[in-house]
Amino acid sequence: LVASMEDVEETYIMVKPDGVQRGLVGEIISRFEKKGFKLTGLKLFQCPKELAEEHYKDLKAKPFFPKLTEYITSGPVVCMAWEGVGVVASARKLIGATNPLQAEPGTIRGDLAVQTGRNVIHGSDSPENGVREIALWFKEGELCPWTQAQAPWLR
Ligand code: PPS
Repeated sequence: LVASMEDVEETYIMVKPDGVQRGLVGEIISRFEKKGFKLTGLKLFQCPKELAEEHYKDLKAKPFFPKLTEYITSGPVVCMAWEGVGVVASARKLIGATNPLQAEPGTIRGDLAVQTGRNVIHGSDSPENGVREIALWFKEGELCPWTQAQAPWLR
C-alpha cells in the first residue's frame, strides 16, 4: 500500500559537536539516506547560546541544563531537516535511547556513543516539535524541498 502525502512528516536531526569532531557526519547521514528518508535541509553551524537555550527551553529546570547548552555550543553542529512517512518516530528508533549504554546495538547511539552528555545526535520527539525545531534552526530560504520528479534519470 502506498502512503498518502498526509502521512509525510518532517523532523529536525542534529549531529552534535562530538559527532562532528569524531568524523561521524557521513556515517549518520548515510543511515537516514539508506532508510529511505529525504534530506531537505543541511548546514554546518556554530550554535549561539541563546538558540541552544531556546531549543532546550522545556529542560530549563533540569540540573543538567547548563551542561547541555555548553555541550551543544562547544563546536559546530550539523543541522538537518528530513522528510518522510513516519520519519519522526522512525528517526528516534534509528537514533536509539538517550543513554547510549542503554541504546540497542544497531542504533546510532548504540553503535557509536557511550555517554549521555556526548550522545552524538538529536532528533525531534514529536511531529509538532519537528516543525518547531526546523523553523528555529533554519532561516527562510535555507530549506530545499525537492521531488523525485527532478531526478527522472534514477528510473
Ligand atoms: S528528561 O529528563 O527525561 O526530560 O530528559 P530526556 O528526554 O531523556 O532528554 C532530553 C534532552 O536532554 C539530554 N540529556 C542530557 N544531557 C546532558 N546530561 C544529562 N545528564 C542529560 N540527560 C538528558 C538528552 O540527550 C536530550 O537531548 P537530545 O538532544 O534531545 O538528545
